[in-house]
Amino acid sequence: MNPLTNTKANSVTITVDGRRTTAAAGVSLAAALVGDGRWTLRRNPVDGGPRGPFCGMGVCLECEVTVDGREAVRACLTRVRAGMRVDTGTRDDR
Ligand code: FES
Repeated sequence: MNPLTNTKANSVTITVDGRRTTAAAGVSLAAALVGDGRWTLRRNPVDGGPRGPFCGMGVCLECEVTVDGREAVRACLTRVRAGMRVDTGTRDDR
């Protein structure tokens, strides 16, 4: 079954920057975050500029987030699973 076409049946709850949201289980975390309206997933360590998913295949590292306490996880290579806790580097943005 394609999780992108059956999102209600496979919906799970995840926590992003302390806020609970739902996402389709099994899709990439990057897709789930963008689908939740979050294009900025981290800040450039030099100038603080917004960074977000670019390549979608694990090369650019622009989608790195913290997942369940593990830093530098590439969201585009990580599948959404129930209960995961995601921290972006953008908490001050909201
Ligand atoms: S979007 Fe490029 S590594 Fe994830």
